[in-house]
Amino acid sequence: MTMLDIIEKKKLGGELSREEIRFFARAAGEKTAPDYQLAALLMAIRLNGMTDRETADLTMEMRDSGDVADLSGIPGIKVDKHSTGGVGDTTTLILAPLAAACGAPIAKMSGRGLGHTGGTLDKLESIPGLNVMMSEDDFIRQVKEIGLVVAAQTGQLAPADKTLYALRDVTSTVDSMPLIVSSIMSKKLASGADAIVLDVKTGSGALMHTLKDSLELAVRMVEVGRMAGKPVGALVTNMDQPLGTHIGNALEVKEAIDVLSGRATGDLLEVSLVLGGHMLVLAGKAETAEEGAGMMREAIDSGAGLQKLKEMIAAQGGNPAVCDDVRLLPQAAVIRQAKCGTGGWVQKMDTTALGLASQAMGAGRKTKEDQLDYSVGYILHVRIGDRVEADTPLCELHARNEAEAEQAEQAIRQAITIGSEPCGRAKLFLAEVTADGIMRL
Ligand code: URA
Ligand code: CA
Repeated sequence: MTMLDIIEKKKLGGELSREEIRFFARAAGEKTAPDYQLAALLMAIRLNGMTDRETADLTMEMRDSGDVADLSGIPGIKVDKHSTGGVGDTTTLILAPLAAACGAPIAKMSGRGLGHTGGTLDKLESIPGLNVMMSEDDFIRQVKEIGLVVAAQTGQLAPADKTLYALRDVTSTVDSMPLIVSSIMSKKLASGADAIVLDVKTGSGALMHTLKDSLELAVRMVEVGRMAGKPVGALVTNMDQPLGTHIGNALEVKEAIDVLSGRATGDLLEVSLVLGGHMLVLAGKAETAEEGAGMMREAIDSGAGLQKLKEMIAAQGGNPAVCDDVRLLPQAAVIRQAKCGTGGWVQKMDTTALGLASQAMGAGRKTKEDQLDYSVGYILHVRIGDRVEADTPLCELHARNEAEAEQAEQAIRQAITIGSEPCGRAKLFLAEVTADGIMRL
């Protein structure tokens, strides 16, 4: 078998065997094939697609291209959550401590920001002293001791994906359904969870902009999970505007603490409760997602969720006092308000542009080497459907200097459309996908 044979077969629209897919995944993981052959096959897959069986095989071969975390030493059903990426999406920092407080062991490996989307590890590192790099032994020990860890991947997970993702980025092959499914699911399966809840975003800040594509992505990921023998459920949720109101690393930690303290409500809280409710069902702690969401809410009211977050921060070397006094988080040099400037209704948002605005302030990386400024970002005061006046507050900017605050203000203004026609609220939950099918919400 050679790479050339495999490229030829997929070029002509053929279905690859498990052995051919294994050959490809190994060649990518071990870098035994030249980039131009890997890239040629990626383009053939992009143009001719893959069957569900091929996609599942590719997922499992990519999973097996590196380490697979063994969480079997942790008692109980380990449920993971994955979001396909968005802006102001701080659900992990809210639902992980709440689910842990409800008795579900949470052993979560998270990632860093990518493009316009934020990353949980970057947010956590804005907490003074907090460490996200740990050995597999320490990772497992922490879950056994306090029921909760959120950290970087402990081993080399899915190195084939690392090679292929970098090639896709520069060969216009990111937007391939089987390649996206196998990329996400290989990493999730390698991080060792028994079951997975997926939050598939849809809209202007999501990987998939249309509901049709987002639904297909959800269906295919659930199907691959089933073929890999793991219960996987998915929710399709709105990313036509940032999920929370705070955008930027320390600001998003502050918002998570505000939600866990019962001080903040809204879409971020709602999505966290519903995803967490589904996690508690898969973990065997609740009968229904509604019951699970109710348990999560009780863990806010009792303070048990915030207490769990404190324990996690302390266990990872951070200062848990940030949970009682958010002013201990990094503070920006310049903090100022901006107003809407025009009256009307907030009609739409370019959420990707809103994410890039905070990246440009220093909250995200343009290259892998960029240093982040954890303090910067902004708090958005409007949501789609709001009636605003010219002097209604638009946002609170947290910047390194006046010039960057001004630049961000312009970018945020451009990304938000205020028009003279009334506009309805954006629907938050669009569909639920299980192995049994799609339920439109
Ligand atoms: N996120 C991933 O990890 N992989 C993709 O292909 C797309 C988004
Ligand atoms: Ca994320």
